[in-house]
Amino acid sequence: MQDDGAERLKKFYKWGLPFYKVVNKKMRSDYRKSMPLLLKRIEISNNTTILDVGTGTGGLAGILLEYTAHITGIDFSPEMLNEARISYGSKINFRNLAAHELTQFETASFDLVTTAFCLHDMNDEYRLNVLQQMRRVAREKVIIIDFPQNINPIARFVEFLEGSFYKEYANSFEDQLTSVFPKIDKIAFLKEKVLYICDV
Ligand SMILES: C[S@@+](CC[C@H](N)C(=O)[O-])C[C@H]1O[C@@H](n2cnc3c(N)ncnc32)[C@H](O)[C@@H]1O
Repeated sequence: MQDDGAERLKKFYKWGLPFYKVVNKKMRSDYRKSMPLLLKRIEISNNTTILDVGTGTGGLAGILLEYTAHITGIDFSPEMLNEARISYGSKINFRNLAAHELTQFETASFDLVTTAFCLHDMNDEYRLNVLQQMRRVAREKVIIIDFPQNINPIARFVEFLEGSFYKEYANSFEDQLTSVFPKIDKIAFLKEKVLYICDV
């Protein structure tokens, strides 16, 4: 099952990579600020295994690497993954896979499944399938960082240029979460960022 916006998004990330590298610094700093909130609620030890979906240049995965060396990151953009490999080499197991190819992983094969700023790139049908797969693959929790239901006009415009599915995401994401996960802890942090910690 291929997302109908996939080719357009891959092009966006290919040509937008130089811009993304600048934004990435800020995103990394924001992810770092989310860690105390996360670690208050879950434990990450040096044995914890993590699958990061839509890992991009490794922004979130690179922060998690400070807690465990057992991280796999998947992304459908070869250019984003190349950049991630330049930063992290073989410390993270990067694989060029689309999110719907989570079907390749065994049930409960990672302690945690994470994803940051990726789910709003997907249409409703595709996203629901990915959420179900993330739940299946996770043994303990699914952790999501993404936009809230309301973002400022500039961010909205960038999402429009990117051709993301932010509008659909804003309308249906939280209902989808409730339909897939038995319990969700929602924590708003910083400006326009939400951390969801989901039981599986
Ligand atoms: C905004 S970037 C975030 C990257 C990374 N999670 C971070 O926070 O630094 C979104 C990433 O999701 C990836 N992505 C979007 N849709 C995807 C899909 N269906 N399968 C795999 N990767 C996807 C894009 O290629 C891009 O690298």
